[in-house]
Amino acid sequence: MAKAQVPSTPVTKKRERNLPPGPQRYLLFQLPELQHQPIEYLDRMWREYGDLVRLPIMPGLTFLIAAHPEGAEHILSTHQERYGKPDLFLKPMGLVQGQGLFTSEGEFWLKQRRLMQPAFHQKQLVRLHAVMLSCVQSLLHEWEKKPEGEVIDIAAEMTRLTLKIVSSALFSVDISGESDKLGQAFRTALEYVYYRMNTPLALPVWIPTPKNLQFRQAKQTLDRIVLEIIQSRRQNPTDTCDLLSMLLAARDEDTGEGMSTHQLQDEVITLINAGHETTATSLAWTWYLLGTHPDIMAKMQDELQTVLNGDIPTFEKLPQLQYTRRVFDESLRLCPPGLGLAPRIALEDDEIQGYFIPKGTIVNITQYFISRHPEFWENPEQFDPDRFLPEKVNQRAKFAYFPFGAGSHICIGKSFAVMESTIILAAIAQRFHIELVPNQPIEIDPRFTLRPKYGIKVTVNKRH
Ligand code: HEM
Repeated sequence: MAKAQVPSTPVTKKRERNLPPGPQRYLLFQLPELQHQPIEYLDRMWREYGDLVRLPIMPGLTFLIAAHPEGAEHILSTHQERYGKPDLFLKPMGLVQGQGLFTSEGEFWLKQRRLMQPAFHQKQLVRLHAVMLSCVQSLLHEWEKKPEGEVIDIAAEMTRLTLKIVSSALFSVDISGESDKLGQAFRTALEYVYYRMNTPLALPVWIPTPKNLQFRQAKQTLDRIVLEIIQSRRQNPTDTCDLLSMLLAARDEDTGEGMSTHQLQDEVITLINAGHETTATSLAWTWYLLGTHPDIMAKMQDELQTVLNGDIPTFEKLPQLQYTRRVFDESLRLCPPGLGLAPRIALEDDEIQGYFIPKGTIVNITQYFISRHPEFWENPEQFDPDRFLPEKVNQRAKFAYFPFGAGSHICIGKSFAVMESTIILAAIAQRFHIELVPNQPIEIDPRFTLRPKYGIKVTVNKRH
């Protein structure tokens, strides 16, 4: 007996009807606005169309904005196998990070992740704590020598500090001497990545346009500095069990081969990049928020006085600095270092929150909006660390807050970053009054990490 034919058209039609809401026309000509003012643009779309917005850019390119915990959980966790990272992210980002952990997928990613995971294991944290503390202390010594009332850009200071920490902790090398060059090279390279990701018709990188040439020079600087770290370690092997030693010693189970210098270079660039820029940006905004909320700063200082009583923040004391930790958590909620995660692409047709998501859709999980979603956060724009009291956290949807991502690509450096930030906040606030310079322009630079565009100017005065 012939099988009954299932009529395909009604299903397709039903699915088409069920596409997420969004503008009907192509938005190619609005790309410059999306590129230069992404927060304002996407905020408008979110308010107009809701928590899942479809943005048709041009034929064959559709973005989806996911601004609800349910969508984030679906994409990152429960149905993560249906999503990968798209070429429009992997290719431009790969120009800087090659095939590092952040820009690789599938089996290759899994192999690298397994190789690198042990270096971030809990038991490594004690060693890392000592390195972090010594880097912070050397910054404090520098500040102590400054004349009272001198103005500094605390955002730039945090970048310098986190760069020194990540290089010392992971590679046992202090690259402070090169830090300005390195920081600048990363910035130029990432601005270029941002430009390429948002300019579908950009000319290939080999064409010598001024932008391309500037990028190539920045990438050469990164490669040179990192290659020097690797080569100097190959020539002078040490018995420190830092990440570089682990990567150098790692062998493929089948072939017995080690990682090529090229692959090592990609991983080192990835870790320096991912490991300093995010933390520095988060800390810069934390100082800004503390500066604009003296009551919260005072409460944090009270905790530091009670728990540390003038001593250094030792590894054992860190878990007691709960208010300091809540300050950082809340700062990451209001000012996450990224508007969203790396974009994803639907590898197959899918359905999210009742809407049909066709294969090939580019999905942007916007944690900036999710972590101020009014359904989950009361007075979302208010800076209130006590939102992170355990009883409140337990009542909240898990995916209302995920500053370190979720699922298999969750940040490998999460414990590293949390410990580092707590030590930095505690060690500095314990010894210095940080005051914002009044009437300075404060603005977010939305290209890549959400850095303060003009820095954050403060005075640092010793506490007596
Ligand atoms: C406050 C600081 C930090 C924040 C907010 C942060 C946030 C994130 C997020 C959201 C992801 C997931 C991205 C995605 O799924 O698209 C991620 C991945 C990653 N992070 Fe972090 N991160 C921080 C610090 C660090 C540090 C200190 C390191 C290394 C020392 C690091 C290394 C990485 C790497 C290598 C990945 C890619 C992981 C993978 O795909 O397997 N991050 N981070």
